[in-house]
Amino acid sequence: MIRSVITGTGSALPVRRVSNAEMAEMVDTTDEWIVERTGIRFRHIAGEGETTATLARDAATRALDAAGIAAAEVDLIVLATATPDQTFPATATKVQAMLGINDCVAFDVAAVCSGFLYAVQVADSMIRSGVARRALVIGAETFSRILDWEDRTTCVLFGDGAGAMVLEAQESDEATGRGILATKLHADGRHNELLYVDGGPSTTGTVGKLRMKGREVFRHAVVNLAAVMGESMALAGLSTDSVDWVVPHQANARILDATARKLGLAPERVVVTVDQHANTSAASVPLALDVAIRDGRIRPGQIVVLEAMGGGFTWGAAVVRI
Ligand code: COA
Repeated sequence: MIRSVITGTGSALPVRRVSNAEMAEMVDTTDEWIVERTGIRFRHIAGEGETTATLARDAATRALDAAGIAAAEVDLIVLATATPDQTFPATATKVQAMLGINDCVAFDVAAVCSGFLYAVQVADSMIRSGVARRALVIGAETFSRILDWEDRTTCVLFGDGAGAMVLEAQESDEATGRGILATKLHADGRHNELLYVDGGPSTTGTVGKLRMKGREVFRHAVVNLAAVMGESMALAGLSTDSVDWVVPHQANARILDATARKLGLAPERVVVTVDQHANTSAASVPLALDVAIRDGRIRPGQIVVLEAMGGGFTWGAAVVRI
């Protein structure tokens, strides 16, 4: 059968790395509070000249190098972001131009922190239906530009970055072959007011700032993430025992622990980068995946579950044999 196989990953972070101690100089917070409540120690913040598109380009370039293919061979770019360079055109088309690809399908997906999972399902569907053969799937964000830097309950939680993967159509053995084995997505639009941006082109004519009721989001996150991971594994016909790694959305170390516990997964099987990157929204899953592939933790043939939840609410999971 034809599956979408991950043939390369890449990631990129802004140059400037900001510690909790530096955050405590900006708002009334402490390193102890941030570490204890979230597990976050550092975040990268985009500087002048660094945008969602430049971070996405750098991550994509590294993913293409890892896959050993030329940019011109890409026929699809799906870019997940809630912080596009411009309201339109899609940031995917900016990245396309930066990579020197003159003709391919390129568009953005907006599902906030679970945007990358949405992008993966869209690209996988297009590959398996024969519409695309080589896709760049990217999650890229500059959330620092939509944070209220006077709100200590949100500004300490987020960071900027990008992650990318190359997905290629390949013949894959049904029982043992590589590729995306299952994806499952959800949305429940009743929860808009728990996590949102208080502006937009069609409402205020402004970009707006991020607002969040963290405690409520936390509660939904653990329940929804554990459920959707279970659903995706059932779709792939796999039990928890066969999962080698979980690469979760990196919002809060306590959410990662609680979700793993709910599923009976050992914490050693969960990839954690939230301490270094904070919450990079749509970038967090591909960033963490790239880190764990490059440092040798995730190896070919292993079963990896990707999962994320974000504003909307939206949430989803994917099961992949690497
Ligand atoms: N520094 C110090 N104190 C802070 C603080 C900060 N940066 N931010 C909030 N506080 C205070 C609050 O004001 C509150 O004080 P009060 O009790 O006097 O009112 C206290 O800390 C506890 O706040 P609370 O919101 O109950 O803390 P919490 O344990 O729920 O942790 C979050 C807050 C945001 C870290 C946590 O709820 C969380 O991670 N939620 C999920 C967020 C998330 O994942 N979002 C993205 C999904 S995509």
